[in-house]
Amino acid sequence: MTIDSDTQRKIMGMFATGITVVSMRIHDDETWGMTANAFTSLSLDPPLVLVAVKKGQTHENLQKAGHFAINILSADQQDLSDRFAFTGPKDFSGLDTTTDVTGAPILQNTLGYVDCEIHEVLAGGDHDIFIGKIIGGKLGEGAPLLYFSGGYAELASDT
Ligand SMILES: Cc1cc2nc3c(=O)[nH]c(=O)nc-3n(C[C@H](O)[C@H](O)[C@H](O)COP(=O)(O)O)c2cc1C
Repeated sequence: MTIDSDTQRKIMGMFATGITVVSMRIHDDETWGMTANAFTSLSLDPPLVLVAVKKGQTHENLQKAGHFAINILSADQQDLSDRFAFTGPKDFSGLDTTTDVTGAPILQNTLGYVDCEIHEVLAGGDHDIFIGKIIGGKLGEGAPLLYFSGGYAELASDT
């Protein structure tokens, strides 16, 4: 038996995730970002992560850039998730960013980031799987922004 995409989306939405912004520098002054939750830690030795990206503009820009950074959003960064979650040009103008090794824009006050060179791209239907080798990164702190059942969520307070 097969299931329709709407049912698949709803079932997969029950798997709560964090939210990241995948960022890259396409040319010297041209940056790009995309909100993504299909992100996973893959390997410690070598240090690898993966993100699944739909075949579209972000996918093309990742291949041009050859690298990406993953910025892990905190509970008070929903505005950043919304900003990078639509189709079309999206840059980092007006945002306070730094760079690490690759030149990808690094967002401030996140829970942490990894800066990666693209190690391999694997086929995955209407998405591709971008495997990144971590060559930089920094740990932040705070509470995570979560995505669950098609909407934003936060960890329950234990107080
Ligand atoms: C919470 C959330 C998570 C998302 N995760 C992904 C993802 O992992 N991969 C992806 O390709 N698109 C994801 N999207 C959709 C993209 O952010 C958005 O549609 C994208 O910017 C459009 O792609 P394009 O720039 O290539 O046209 C997500 C959107 C939201 C709101």
